[in-house]
Amino acid sequence: MNGNPVSEVFKIDCKEFMKSFKDNQFDLCIADPWYGIGMTKNDTTGFAAKRFRVTAGINDEAPDRETFEEIRRISKNQIIWGGNYFLDYLGNCRAPIIWDKGTGANYFADGEMAWTSFKTGCLRIIHHQWCGCFKDSERNDPVIHPCQKPIFVYKWLLEKHAKKGMTIYDPFLGSGSSRIAAWDLGYDFYATEIDPVHFENEENRFYQYRNSQLFAQDELLECQKSLEFRETLGAVKE
Ligand SMILES: C[S@@+](CC[C@H](N)C(=O)[O-])C[C@H]1O[C@@H](n2cnc3c(N)ncnc32)[C@H](O)[C@@H]1O
Repeated sequence: MNGNPVSEVFKIDCKEFMKSFKDNQFDLCIADPWYGIGMTKNDTTGFAAKRFRVTAGINDEAPDRETFEEIRRISKNQIIWGGNYFLDYLGNCRAPIIWDKGTGANYFADGEMAWTSFKTGCLRIIHHQWCGCFKDSERNDPVIHPCQKPIFVYKWLLEKHAKKGMTIYDPFLGSGSSRIAAWDLGYDFYATEIDPVHFENEENRFYQYRNSQLFAQDELLECQKSLEFRETLGAVKE
């Protein structure tokens, strides 16, 4: 890879954004729309509702048929979280993905299902615990979105379903976990997020992450340079 990948997010309705793109513009669309089950609007008891409903997530309506048609027009393949809610629009699925969240015996869903457009392959399951403070990753990181998925799960999706050089689009970005995964794995990435609060939080999260990565890279380079320099002076010998 030459340099860093493209990583661009637009604060805009994905439907508007997609109009400007030709058919199959993106190689893979990974989408996680609101499912329209009223999580942020009607649920007044859950953690996410309490924590986020006053700041964001006012509109949690599911996308319409036209939005899905656009998603399928502008991308060669699609992975759509919560696809089980949209089977009328999406049709049959040969290779669904199940994310087992390891939530245990309680009222939380055991996991989530993603619909995929892949014509080969079969059902795959990823096990990655994600339930309150019981998490297999990002244990000490702040949660900035009511539907935040782990970066780990997005990396797994990309490793299994994308190839180097592909361009990825996420229409419903949320916390930006997909963006960080794509960045780390070197994929060019575009996304849209309509909610200004989520957009701002995601931007802060991404740039903090990216800067810490770049800073670490710079530090490493400096160390290497300094070591090489000392070696040329004969200061460091095996
Ligand atoms: C289920 S959340 C995505 C969560 C994300 N996967 C994560 O890991 O954080 C859906 C997001 O899509 C955004 N959204 C909803 N409708 C949209 C639209 N028409 N265009 C762009 N973004 C939209 C919402 O504001 C919300 O942040």
